[in-house]
Formats: sequence, structure tokens, C-alpha cells
Amino acid sequence: MLKIFTIVGARPQIIKAAAISRQVRTVFKDRIQESIVHTGQHYDENMSQVFFDEMEIPKPDFNLNIGSGTHGSQTAKMIEGIEKLLLEHKPDALVIYGDTNSTLAGAIAASKIHVPVVHIEAGLRSYNKSMPEEINRIMADNVSTLLFSPTKTGYTNLLREGFEDTEKTGRKKFDKDHPGIFHCGDVMYDNTLFFAEMAEKKSKALEQNNLVAGNFVLVTIHRDSNTDNPERLTAILEALNEISVEQSMDMILPLHPRTLKMLNGEAYSAIYDLLKKNKRIKIIPPASFFDMIVLEKNAKLIITDSGGVQKEAYFFKKPSIVLRPETEWKEIAKNGAAIIADAEKQKIKTAYDYFSSKSDLSFPAVFGDGKAAEFICNNMLESL
Ligand code: UD1
Repeated sequence: MLKIFTIVGARPQIIKAAAISRQVRTVFKDRIQESIVHTGQHYDENMSQVFFDEMEIPKPDFNLNIGSGTHGSQTAKMIEGIEKLLLEHKPDALVIYGDTNSTLAGAIAASKIHVPVVHIEAGLRSYNKSMPEEINRIMADNVSTLLFSPTKTGYTNLLREGFEDTEKTGRKKFDKDHPGIFHCGDVMYDNTLFFAEMAEKKSKALEQNNLVAGNFVLVTIHRDSNTDNPERLTAILEALNEISVEQSMDMILPLHPRTLKMLNGEAYSAIYDLLKKNKRIKIIPPASFFDMIVLEKNAKLIITDSGGVQKEAYFFKKPSIVLRPETEWKEIAKNGAAIIADAEKQKIKTAYDYFSSKSDLSFPAVFGDGKAAEFICNNMLESL
């Protein structure tokens, strides 16, 4: 029996963990035993618990209840808590997801006491180190033993950083000085395939928000580079307001608590008032996974600074406008399904016009076949 500990903390990790956790509880139940550690990075009901409930993820075995803080203090508290658990329970491996402070804390705590680290969503790079997520990714990848990349680009990025080419060497056993890198597809795609039908049956997101399928824009904004910069956030919000007025287009914004907190500050009073007066713009609390899937699947177009939402847009064959200067998901932009508009009002509006008049977008499969979690479980059993 392979005993793994899994770290979750932020919303997207809980979603990603659902795919592996489902495999462990079914196909691999006699071979892998999982304990879930929640760092408590996200703690609001609608940023955390709702995902465990909907996706039927077992209740975390441990909750560190760390909550918010500066990067240093939040990460430090997590490292201390995770190290204690690892020393006490001695798992065979620690599984971490993505690029958050919870990811980095898990990587540091485990690698220093020689617990092999399994990084899921490895190799992604924005090549923009002003993003805390980019620092977290690079550091986590560099102390991991097994690195699973969802895309070919991620695999190539790791090769460029000097990782041994596992597909060529044929090595079968790995340690942190001889890590294994794998291109396996995206666990989020596994989840989308698994949950899409269920979500359509259960979610009332369209009715509750008076939205007509195919006739609204879904928007998410949460990156600190946008939320903590009044000039950028204002430009984005002005673009949204103008598009909705000029094109008579409904928009729905499930807002991250960080963004809402900022909007309530003085710097935004003018633009926030405009948004509140605009009947076509609906600001709602963070959506559940099922509601989010239904909103994505039925949107005309998606405007976002989230990596996960960009991918889900692509899974549902929807164009996206990316509110960042670059993206880790190069394939989406390369295939013409996303436009990188950054926080520039005119670029956002031009991208909207372009996608509105374009009906021949293509979405070739670049995120695997929906079996990434199975691949990862088999590989952990063979390689550790
Ligand atoms: C984090 C991740 C980011 C991921 C995102 C998904 C890092 C560095 N960033 O960003 O990679 O894409 O999660 O959402 O780890 N807050 C609440 N309630 C909550 C959670 C947060 O009010 O349940 C507020 C807190 O005031 C907190 C702020 O949001 O200070 C930001 O939260 P934090 O955990 O620092 O990062 P995110 O912006 O969520």
C-alpha cells in the first residue's frame, strides 16, 4: 500500500485533488491510501467547503487553519504545520498541486525531510517572476521527485531547465536528484468530463441570474497584479462596463473575496458605482464548481485572469480574453482561442469585437484524454 499525503489549500487545488482522490477511492483503493491536509489558505465556505461537498472529496484528515497573511508568514506557518504531520505520519510521498503558497510550503517541508514530492501541474511557466505563482512553481519543481505536466509545453519547459528527459532515458525509479518528468494530460480536464453532465442537472446558475445561454459573458478577476493595482483594475472594469453598455451584453462576475475587498475601497468608488448601476452586470459571490461549469459551458465568451478558467473555457470550446500580459497555457493562445489583452481597456474591447465576429475557432485536444489521474496513480505506484 502506497501511503500518500495530499496538500490542498486554495480553491483550484481542491478541484484538482478531486480527480486523483476519486481514482484512489475506486480503481486504486487496494493499492493507494490517501490522507488530505488542508492548509486553510482559503477558508470561506464558498472558497473551500462547497467544492468538497459537490465533488464528494473526503473531508480533510487534517486542517492547519492557517488563513490569510503575507506571503512569508502564510508560507512559514504552513511549512511548520506540514513538517510536523509528515514527521509524525511518515507517508511514502507528498502530493502537491499547482502554484500556490500551499504548494510551495508542501514542497519545502517534504523535500527537506526526504519525503518524495509529487508535483501535479509541473513545468508551467509564465516567465514572469513578478507573479508569486511563478516563484512557487519554479521552487516546487526543483525539489520534486515526480513531475507531471499537463501539456507538452510544460514538459519542454522542464527540459530547457535541465531536467533529464524521462521519455528518452527509460529510467524507472526516481529520487529528488534524479527526478522523473511526465506529460500526462490535465486532471482538470478529467474533472470537466466527469462532472459536466451532473453540473447541468444540478446547477441553477442560469435561472438564478436571469441569464440566457449563449448570450452573456463570464468574467473572473483575482490575480494580485490586477486586484492590487488601481490603474489596472479600473481599466479592466471600464472595459467591461463599456462592452456591456455598447453591445447590450449581460455579464456575470463571481468575485473572489480579495477583489471584492478592493472594490469596496475608496480608489474604486466611481467605477464600482457605475458597475452597480449597470443592470446588465451581475456581481455575485464566488461560484460553486457546478455553477462555474454551467456558466462556462453556456457563456458566449469568457474574460479572466485565472489559469484554470482559461483552460475550462477551452474545454467547452469558448474563446477567452486573458487579463494578463502572458499565459502559461501557450497552446490556447497559439490555437487562436485566447487573446492576451492584459489590463488594457482598448485591447480588451478589440478582442471582444474580434471574437464576436468569429465563428470558425478551433479547439484541438491539447489537455489529454481525461485519464490523467489514472496515469498519475499508476506512475506513482511504479516509480516511487
Ligand atoms: C491564491 C493563489 C493563486 C490561485 C488563487 C485561486 C498564492 C500565492 N496564490 O490566490 O495561485 O490562483 O489562490 O483563488 O498562493 N480571502 C478570503 N477568503 C478566502 C480566501 C481568501 O477573504 O476564503 C482573502 C484574504 O483576505 C486573502 C486574500 O483573499 O488575504 C487573498 O488570498 P490568498 O490566499 O493570499 O491568495 P489568492 O488571491 O486567493
